Amino acid sequence: MFNINNIIRENIKNLKPYSSARDEFKGEASVYLDANENAFGSPLETNYHRYPDPLAHAVKLELSKIKGVPPRNIFLGNGSDEAIDILFRSFCNPGKDNVIIVPPTYGMYEVSANINDITLKRVNLTEDFQLNLEGIAEAIDENTKLIFICSPNNPTGNSINREDVETLLANFNGIVVIDEAYINFSRQKSFIQELTEYANLVVLQTLSKAWGLAGLRVGMAFASEEIIEIFNKVKPPYNINQSSQELALAALKNVTQVNEWIKQILSERDNLVLNIKNFDFVIDIYPSDANFILVKTTDANQVYNHLVNDGIIIRNRNKVELCEGCVRITIGTLEENKALLDSLKSYKN
Ligand SMILES: Cc1ncc(COP(=O)(O)O)c(C=O)c1O
Repeated sequence: MFNINNIIRENIKNLKPYSSARDEFKGEASVYLDANENAFGSPLETNYHRYPDPLAHAVKLELSKIKGVPPRNIFLGNGSDEAIDILFRSFCNPGKDNVIIVPPTYGMYEVSANINDITLKRVNLTEDFQLNLEGIAEAIDENTKLIFICSPNNPTGNSINREDVETLLANFNGIVVIDEAYINFSRQKSFIQELTEYANLVVLQTLSKAWGLAGLRVGMAFASEEIIEIFNKVKPPYNINQSSQELALAALKNVTQVNEWIKQILSERDNLVLNIKNFDFVIDIYPSDANFILVKTTDANQVYNHLVNDGIIIRNRNKVELCEGCVRITIGTLEENKALLDSLKSYKN
């Protein structure tokens, strides 16, 4: 049985978190002399001289309406990369615990593990980029704290079979992290609605992809109240800055625009696949549930260099296990995709 008390690090369980000025006085006052801010203002047109809301309540309230999840089940991070790091710092004892990743997948799980001195166990995806459940079951031991599943997966683009993820959630006594950074482009349902079903589920999402706010650095983790409380204890006091909170709030009120872009991106993705698949250097285009496609070519380095020469940058994934010969191409605007196709037309095998 999953029990949060069995997996939280002892030092975090006993941690007395930093109590900021904004934590200690929460009401409205006319004079604030409690946080050593500059009371005169900021040398800008807009004032940012006050520390922001440590828990970004207003943003969470708006997200809660969109996602159908109560604010108490939402953590906001400085990008979902911060949530990944906080998962390690909350649950994994350096030099002792381990986590499982399923390559090829998003690179930050490994980097965060290395930063936190946590052993990484790799159980590669199968040839069709799905979970090797037997391999994962064999890799789990009593010190395995986290399993990272990215769905839709970066860099392969496909969604992971839902029943397989459910099998892990039901049988693993640690935390299953489902990274849904690309969920808005997917035909699959989010796991967010399963939070009441599984106490060991953490779903990551972000405003960096479909929402078009990568520069603001706002990522989300959705989980049980107990897990969110731990994250809030561990995070830096003011991890979402004031301008990010204000701009994210304004953006979240414009979901119509985002949905319109998603439609355009999906239609452009179909269009790009149709146009790219007939080039003679293309061996395969993997089915995508994301805003990018993974393309297997006869020579990824050469394709990459050819495009760079034309001022077009894609991601060369040639050195990634199971992705030999592959490049990852983000779906751009109509004009950008046309520039890509024009350049590829002049590529000689
Ligand atoms: C699967 C996945 N998760 C998380 C992230 C990081 O997102 P954020 O910008 O919210 O830190 C990325 C970024 O590329 C990603 O591909």
